[in-house]
Amino acid sequence: MRVLNRLGCKADLADDVIKYFPRFDMLLSPFFGTGAIEFQFIGKIKYLIANDLNAEVFNLYMQIQNNFDALFDAVCMIPVHSGILTHAPRDKTEQAAIFLIRSNCTFMSRGGTLKIGRSNSKKITKERLKNLYLGIVDNQKTSVSFHCTDVITFFDAIESRGLEKNAFVYCDPPYFGTTQAYNVKNFTLADFENMVRRLLDTKIRFAISEFDSNEIIDIADKYGLKINILKERKNLNNRRTEILITNYSAGSEARQRYLFGGAE
Ligand SMILES: C[S@@+](CC[C@H](N)C(=O)[O-])C[C@H]1O[C@@H](n2cnc3c(N)ncnc32)[C@H](O)[C@@H]1O
Repeated sequence: MRVLNRLGCKADLADDVIKYFPRFDMLLSPFFGTGAIEFQFIGKIKYLIANDLNAEVFNLYMQIQNNFDALFDAVCMIPVHSGILTHAPRDKTEQAAIFLIRSNCTFMSRGGTLKIGRSNSKKITKERLKNLYLGIVDNQKTSVSFHCTDVITFFDAIESRGLEKNAFVYCDPPYFGTTQAYNVKNFTLADFENMVRRLLDTKIRFAISEFDSNEIIDIADKYGLKINILKERKNLNNRRTEILITNYSAGSEARQRYLFGGAE
């Protein structure tokens, strides 16, 4: 159901991650990005509470929720042409449309070189935009809200008491040690550890996506968290193992439920 392409998108890994999720009816996602994992729960849970510090990401979801027709028209009108890479938007709607086209139609979603190829990125973007609108605005079961703040402030604002049983947090922060490409302040190892402490304070079940670096494993061990090995990922320079750190045992029960029917 996602509409946005963006660095760090978990679409390829979604199945591997979701099978470790427990049962819940409220999903809290402080590092939402494209929502590749979270949007899969639309229509299956009662609440999706999404957050991302990046103002462009937030503005896009605001425009989809509150100003969809104007946004869709703007996406149709904007040419996929190098001129949009430098064009200054006139208003929030045009800003969201340009952000979407830049993210979806440029190489590696970096907003630089336009993609050249057979796939029609703009047509796909328009179709996905309509589907997402129907999913988040027209669905009767899941109430969706978006927020734009730092992960710690996000948890400070959440009334976590009483959520221990039915809520679940999925965290996908920028990978430790990678260069930042999100137009937000760097997410450091100290930020990671603060986040872990803040998550433990809430007493809500949580899962964090990361790579298996020594620094991250040390923090997970220090706080008695479980490390679930997902899979090895390769790129030109190195191989790294994707892990999911949890404060619960993600046993076979969660995986069976996933295979036979999703979150409920
Ligand atoms: C790895 S990406 C998340 C990818 C997402 N799971 C997906 O599938 O698209 C990390 C996201 O966290 C956001 N972010 C970075 N630092 C943050 C912070 N301190 N608080 C909240 N969001 C942050 C970035 O803007 C980015 O969208």
